[in-house]
Amino acid sequence: MSIETSCDDTCAAILNEEGRRALSNVVHTQTEHARYGGVVPEVASRAHLERLDAVIEEALAAAGATLDDVTRVAVTVRPGLIGALLVGVSAAKGLAYARKLPLTPVNHLEGHVAAAYLTDPALQPPFVALIASGGHTALYSVSENGMDLLGQSLDDAAGEALDKGARMLGLGFPGGPALSKAAQGGDPSRYDFPVALKEKNNLDFSFSGLKTSLLYKLQALDERAGREELPHLAAGYEAAVVEALSRKLLRAADLYDAPTLVVAGGVAANLALRRVLAEECQKRDLKLVVPSPELCTDNAAMIGAAAATAPAVPYPNYLDLNARST
Ligand code: KG4
Ligand code: ZN
Repeated sequence: MSIETSCDDTCAAILNEEGRRALSNVVHTQTEHARYGGVVPEVASRAHLERLDAVIEEALAAAGATLDDVTRVAVTVRPGLIGALLVGVSAAKGLAYARKLPLTPVNHLEGHVAAAYLTDPALQPPFVALIASGGHTALYSVSENGMDLLGQSLDDAAGEALDKGARMLGLGFPGGPALSKAAQGGDPSRYDFPVALKEKNNLDFSFSGLKTSLLYKLQALDERAGREELPHLAAGYEAAVVEALSRKLLRAADLYDAPTLVVAGGVAANLALRRVLAEECQKRDLKLVVPSPELCTDNAAMIGAAAATAPAVPYPNYLDLNARST
């Protein structure tokens, strides 16, 4: 059984013994945050507390399992919202202790990458992975020994840039899907949006200039023009994020001679990004593994998949296990 509560999704999953197949994967996305236009940490903790028991029961039922079938427990311990993480960690500790089971602490980012193993059980390191979520945008070289950071965002994460851009355009939250919808029928080349850090060999990202660029474009338009131009602005903004991500991932593949690429995190659910990368990887004869959209956004199955290769803490040595925000 795996549990994930690092942000605004309350998640539990049941995996097979090898941790390479999800028997159930229940995600309750908190709706309490929509009215604030972003995740409110204290609201998230309280909502996890209210929901987690029911989500765990649903995960067991959907897998046709009971607690007697569970042989180990995995939980996200970092990084994330500290109060939100603590709800999952406390529940996991309680469950594991009561049943005398081992407990595996999992890093959320390793979880995102591990979603690729559920998609392609034959996948083996080494590969280069891009994680693009609401909290992180980073490139890693993944080997048997772990994940080495190759580059990351110097300011906002890609998902954060999409969420903030969507907010500026008066669209809903989360911004990624809202922006994609608004971009339908828009001309991505009507407006010139910047892609930062294009220099050779640079594997970092920056999205603050993109946000500023959207702000100035909106300030130059009156309300009616802003509405009419919405599909073009959304399409251009989304395309700039997609270009930044795909450019750096392909560059990393090139620099590190990686034959296989993995893309994970909520932004990997983006259809434009998936399309561009599929085309480019085909041209370059690179293998591309992108989990299905529901395995890209936060879920517990990916945490269970990461736990399959992570060390478990035996009963009862995990009672002082703590969550960490970073
Ligand atoms: O990985 P995730 O579910 O949570 C974090 O760990 O942050 O990622 C959430 C982010 C949000 O910023 C959301 O706008 C973005 O992923 N996102 C998308 C799509 N679905 C979610 N961005 C672009 N296109 C999507 N279809
Ligand atoms: Zn995430």
